[in-house]
Amino acid sequence: ITVFYHLCVCVVLSAFRSICGEDGISLGEAVREQHGKDESVHRCCPPDVVVFPHCVEEVSALAKVCHNHHLPIIPFGTGTGLEGGVGALKGGVCFSLRNMDQVLDLHQEDFDVTVEPGVTRKALNAYLRETGLWFPVDPGADASLCGMAATSASGTNAVRYGTMRENVLNLEVVLADGTIIHTAGKGRRPRKTSAGYNLTNLFVGSEGTLGIITKSTLRLYGIPEAMVSAVCSFPSVQAAVDSTVQVLQAGVPIARIEFLDEVMIDACNRFSSLSYPVTPTLFLEFHGSERSVEEQVNLTEDITQSNGGSDFQWARDAETRNSLWKARHDAWYAALALRPGCKAYSTDVCVPLSRLPQIIVETKEDLMENRLTGPIAGHVGDGNFHCLMVVDPSDPEEQHRVHLFTERLARRALAMDGTCTGEHGVGLGKRALLCEEVGHTAINVMQGLKDALDPKNLMNPGKVLKEITNTVF
Ligand SMILES: Cc1cc2nc3c(=O)[nH]c(=O)nc-3n(C[C@H](O)[C@H](O)[C@H](O)COP(=O)(O)OP(=O)(O)OC[C@H]3O[C@@H](n4cnc5c(N)ncnc54)[C@H](O)[C@@H]3O)c2cc1C
Ligand SMILES: *[C@@H]1O[C@H](CO)[C@@H](O)[C@H](O)[C@H]1NC(C)=O
Ligand SMILES: *[C@@H]1O[C@H](CO)[C@@H](O)[C@H](O)[C@H]1NC(C)=O
Repeated sequence: ITVFYHLCVCVVLSAFRSICGEDGISLGEAVREQHGKDESVHRCCPPDVVVFPHCVEEVSALAKVCHNHHLPIIPFGTGTGLEGGVGALKGGVCFSLRNMDQVLDLHQEDFDVTVEPGVTRKALNAYLRETGLWFPVDPGADASLCGMAATSASGTNAVRYGTMRENVLNLEVVLADGTIIHTAGKGRRPRKTSAGYNLTNLFVGSEGTLGIITKSTLRLYGIPEAMVSAVCSFPSVQAAVDSTVQVLQAGVPIARIEFLDEVMIDACNRFSSLSYPVTPTLFLEFHGSERSVEEQVNLTEDITQSNGGSDFQWARDAETRNSLWKARHDAWYAALALRPGCKAYSTDVCVPLSRLPQIIVETKEDLMENRLTGPIAGHVGDGNFHCLMVVDPSDPEEQHRVHLFTERLARRALAMDGTCTGEHGVGLGKRALLCEEVGHTAINVMQGLKDALDPKNLMNPGKVLKEITNTVF
């Protein structure tokens, strides 16, 4: 067996080298470790080898070799995921896509662009700077856009511009056996279509379990004429969240409405040297023409004041706005700084808007009762919020309490007709919750789709769906 195994390894490695060259493959321990984990608390599972293809033909040829030798394939974007998506649970081959980093086919007049999988959202927006266009989906981290499609990411702008799901028009995908497909037909980018099943949507949120995304065609937006940001403090969580619900019910096309509880704002004040009042707070942003922004602001201020909110603190110039949003995006690191040496785990539930006040209030009570540090930051305009759980990695008892808390929170969201993950994905830790969420019949349909596209179960095995035989965890 060993001789045969070594022979296979040699055959596979030399096939990989002939496809993407000597520097297109790495067996080094440091490189493998770096590709075996993301930003989550899940332990590192390094792949056996990392390949760095340069084009879709190389991705396809590499996949064919893996397919012939039954080797797992794990796509890797920028590794900023929060659910353990890139770990090589059964070893195998990590496909790092960072060498494919070209922006292709910008159609300014049609508001769309196609990107390779190594292009990050900041790189795309830098590329677009002179055009008056931008891509608004913004998870904070500088993630790859195809990785964002793979996890159905969103972030602070989704309340106005939608998530990756609303903003991907077409995908080029390499399947486990090397077949290259274009989910909406090669080169197509209509704004709407009624043509057949929506394969694009099937791959959005598939977390590398159905195929390797090698191109995404994305919607773009005009940079608004006016943008103003504001901060408003509230006497209670209920008042802040009620204001959010009322602003949306009033039809204000708000671009960002982010909630921070008093623990979170305190952490942000310390971490980013700010001095906002330590009470539940909303960070807001309005986009539009000068006049429309003024109208939106007037209406929103009326609503917040009727709920006991403070006067708005303004951020009108780009510099102040950027420092405000930087503070928000640094919330993760601000939370970690509350307890040096600890690790962070972010919960990610999402509920219908009307249930938001109740779930946040109950969750805060639960945190208090169980003596847990979990500052709350939320994309509340979408009904999505995160408890950034700061946990001592050397305290198993505390880890256990956090685990029970996160399960209770997810079930509370399910009981309120919501979801266990608004934007981070299922990855490793939420596979059982996914079954509870969609039910066994829907899970069976998902498994059927997986079997049809990847009959040998090579694509990122052990993620999203529970494996029927090989239980690794
Ligand atoms: C500080 C911080 C804040 C964050 N805030 C947010 C937030 O507000 N909203 C949000 O949605 N997310 C957030 N995230 C999570 C993360 O940025 C997103 O999940 C992002 O979409 C991951 O992209 P990536 O390229 O880093 O993917 P990776 O971590 O490399 O991979 C994630 C998953 O996608 C798969 N994958 C990656 N690329 C491809 C591809 N080309 N084809 C097929 N599968 C692929 C991987 O196999 C894996 O399963 C945050 C992360 C951090 C560290
Ligand atoms: C198909 O799915 C994509 C990605 O989620 C989405 O952007 C697109 O609008 C959908 N198309 C139709 C016709 O619903
Ligand atoms: C906004 O409110 C101010 C002060 O109340 C008022 O002067 C202004 O006309 C309002 N603007 C719009 C566009 O409604």
